[in-house]
Parts: sequence; structure tokens; C-alpha cells
Amino acid sequence: MKIHLLDYLVCPECKGSLRCHPQEGREGEVETGALHCTGCAAEFPIVRGIPRFVRGALSADKARTADAFGWEWQEFSELHDSWETYEQQFLDWIAPLTPDFFREKVVLDAGCGMGRFSAAAVRFGAREVIAIDLSDAVESARRTTAALPNVHVVQADIYHLPFARPFDFAFSIGVLHHLPDPEGGFQALVRHLKDGGSIFGWVYGRENNGWLVYVGNPLRERVFSRLPRPILYGLSFLVTAGLHPLLKLLYRPADGGPVRPLASRLPYRGYLTWLAQFGFRHNHHVVFDHMVAPTAFYLRREEFAAWFQRAGLEDVQLSWRNQNSWRGLGRRPAGVATAQPAISSAPAQPATSSGRAGGTARGEAGVAAHGEPVEP
Ligand SMILES: C[S@@+](CC[C@H](N)C(=O)[O-])C[C@H]1O[C@@H](n2cnc3c(N)ncnc32)[C@H](O)[C@@H]1O
Repeated sequence: MKIHLLDYLVCPECKGSLRCHPQEGREGEVETGALHCTGCAAEFPIVRGIPRFVRGALSADKARTADAFGWEWQEFSELHDSWETYEQQFLDWIAPLTPDFFREKVVLDAGCGMGRFSAAAVRFGAREVIAIDLSDAVESARRTTAALPNVHVVQADIYHLPFARPFDFAFSIGVLHHLPDPEGGFQALVRHLKDGGSIFGWVYGRENNGWLVYVGNPLRERVFSRLPRPILYGLSFLVTAGLHPLLKLLYRPADGGPVRPLASRLPYRGYLTWLAQFGFRHNHHVVFDHMVAPTAFYLRREEFAAWFQRAGLEDVQLSWRNQNSWRGLGRRPAGVATAQPAISSAPAQPATSSGRAGGTARGEAGVAAHGEPVEP
């Protein structure tokens, strides 16, 4: 942990300030030690250079999610491509944002996994990026970002963030739909924005994902996510071995090649054409990721839009990605009271699992898949 990260940290329980007690480290960095709260005397260890704010027992669903993703991001921890390629992928995920947007911003990557997008944000010119994750994925994130002095990795829960200062920008890619209360997680992030700060989220869409809601998701919840990880690893390998030739021999050539007229007939074209550009190991990771998560919600456009509206955000832009998921960007109004008091004026409240996700599809029956949604 870089010592100057302390400027950003606060006790997630009482919001008291923290004092650092290093045991091992080097100039400006703590490898082993502890953070002590001057308010409630809570202690947060620093282990392998990462401050750990996940204390006590997690709820059963969060514990299973943390276990699943901790395993995943430590197994699939290598970079598959050049940094330039990761930057392009990141831009595709966060469209319409561009590299310029990041310049000099203090950024929160909420649910960072192996930290690939935290690194991309810093490479785009962010002043500091704080990468948080609930799971042991933080071990991989620290390795990925070790050479980047202004990326900080913190083990923490989105619902109980340990931050004293609000952020210019918070993003969360592929995380909110895995939370027990997705909207609660989103609103917790909004509370950590500066006035005028922006938030971006990417979530699974409900539209075009009927087969996942009715077939894939129940199988994942009841079977795949419960398998011993090495068995799931092998099973996902076999699924990838079946899928990969289709991607390379059918979807890839159909994307602009001589058999282009075929493209419109291919099922799941947007998503699988995107996947077709990657190598086997990358796609094995993607397939494993789809099978391992114990919890996943699929959101309709209007449900996702309602999160931004209820948070009082402005300049909201939603867009459809790969015809099966939603990107959302919004800005916290400057100097206007919103439904979400910022951390500077009121401490963040832990979100509840009150089901504020409303009618969000978690494999629910009786809902017809929409056609291609109309862009906002
Ligand atoms: C599918 S991964 C996405 C990782 C990363 N955003 C990326 O796209 O490379 C979802 C991540 O969310 C994290 N996560 C799940 N629940 C969380 C929570 N309550 N607080 C923080 N992170 C959480 C998981 O540990 C996992 O690393």
C-alpha cells in the first residue's frame, strides 16, 4: 500500500480516520502492517501490500460470489493481449467515453477483478485509480498494476466503501449484476461521487437473453456455480472447445468477409462476433466467467435507466452493447441536493438487500424477450 493512499481512506464502519502501523515495507510503501481506526478502534490488516477492509463473515451469497471470482481471477490472471488492445477493449466497454475524459481524474474501479481496466484508466491519464474488489482477485490486481505508482488496490465491499474523499469518476464493469442488490450497489457508488462527478456501469441485459434467463441462469445457479472449481474449469474448457471452431470458422468470416450475407442469420451475432476476435484461452476465461457466478441479474433498459433517475443523475446516456448488455453513464449534478447525499455531507449507508432491483430478471418466468431496443 502506497502511504499516500491514506489520504483517501477512512474507517468504513464509523468513518473515523485511520492511522497506519507498518511492519514491513520500503520507502513510501507498506507491505505488511495494519490500519487502526482512531474512532472505533477497528483494525484493518495490510497483507501483501493490500489494505483489507472485508472483516468478519460475509452473507452467504456474497461469500459464494467472492469465492467464485477469487478463484477465477487467480486462475485466469495473465494478460492475453498488449496494453493497447486492452485500452481498445476498455473503450468499447465504456463508450461513449474517450481517453481524454480520464485526464487528471481520481477514479474508482468498483469490482476490479485482475485490475486490467484500472491500468487502462491510468494509462489514459487518470491522476489516481483506486481499484477495489471483494474477492482474492485483488492479489492478481496488485500484480497487474504493480508497475503503476498511481493505482491502489484495496480489498473492500462496494456496499461498505472505506473512502474519505469523493471521486471524479466511478466505473463498474460486469459487477453490479452479480450483487445481491444491484441497485443498492450502484447507489452506494453514486454516494462516493463528487458533485459534478460521473458514474459508468455495464450490466447484463435482459433483452435478447431469454435463453440465459430460462436455461443458462438456472443451470448456473443450481449446478455450475456449485461444482468443484477444477471440474468447472474442465467443463468450461470442453464448452469452449466446442464453441471456438464456430467462432473462428463461422462468426469471424461472417463479420465483413465473403460470407457476410450469412451474418444476419447467425444467432447471438453481436456477442459471438465480438468473442470471435479472441484466442482460445481468453474465451475459455469468458465461458468460465459465465458459468461460475452464483448470482446474476439481467436488466431491462428501463430498469437500468430508473437507477440513474432515482439517483438524480443528469446527462444520462444508455447504450446497447453487443445486443445483449447495457452501458450507462450519468453525472451527479453540481451543487444540487440529490436523492443520494455525497459522502462529504453524509456518511455512506450500507445498502440493504431490499430487492430494490424491482422486476429485474433473475431467471424469472413469464417475461418475453424484447426485440432490439431503441437507443436513447
Ligand atoms: C466479472 S468480474 C469483473 C472484473 C472487472 N471489472 C473486469 O471487467 O475485468 C466481477 C468482479 O466483481 C467483484 N465483486 C463481486 N461482488 C462485489 C462486492 N460486493 N464488492 C466489490 N467487488 C465485488 C468480484 O470479486 C469480481 O472480481
